[in-house]
Amino acid sequence: MLPKTLLARLSLAVCVLGLGALAFVLLFGSRVLPGGALITTGQAAIGGPFSLVDHTGRRVTDETFKGRYSLIYFGFTSCPDICPTELQVMARALDLAGADVLDDVQPIFITVDPERDTVEAVASYVGLFHPKLLGLTGSASDVRGATRAYRVFANRVDLENSDGDYTMDHSSITYLMDREGQYLAHFNYGVGPEQMAQRLISLVK
Ligand code: NI
Repeated sequence: MLPKTLLARLSLAVCVLGLGALAFVLLFGSRVLPGGALITTGQAAIGGPFSLVDHTGRRVTDETFKGRYSLIYFGFTSCPDICPTELQVMARALDLAGADVLDDVQPIFITVDPERDTVEAVASYVGLFHPKLLGLTGSASDVRGATRAYRVFANRVDLENSDGDYTMDHSSITYLMDREGQYLAHFNYGVGPEQMAQRLISLVK
């Protein structure tokens, strides 16, 4: 048994009325070889089983998406700024990357706000961004399972003097998962469509 250590990476993201800040920690597995050299295993602690409902009402799981790459973004449809920006970047990147990449990558939006993001709400939302974008929602516990699997931070924040209105603090990271559903890469907030497209071209085989 090789000793294991964890390398922590910190990513910052913003999404509270476009102004708030939140932190997100990605833990990457790595191991120390007998000679003392540290290598990353390439296995990040990101991804895993989930069960949700897509925007057509179909039950889907992580198994549904195996065989193709997935480009996954977690957010919520009433996010005023960051989520729409990031989904536009994703959509543009896929179009820039070309038909070969687009054929092999399933873009996915997963809500962190299942209370408001019904199947119908998600369906009308994803259509604004890309014809291939699939929106996923589910029960509160199903969504919690997915956010845990992807180490996504999501927290309800009640708005003052708003009669019960609220927003969601959440991490803003786009994940690229491979054909087996294993983590391959991520894109932090601020990565542009050209840069994302280049990485997709180099990673999607
Ligand atoms: Ni957002």
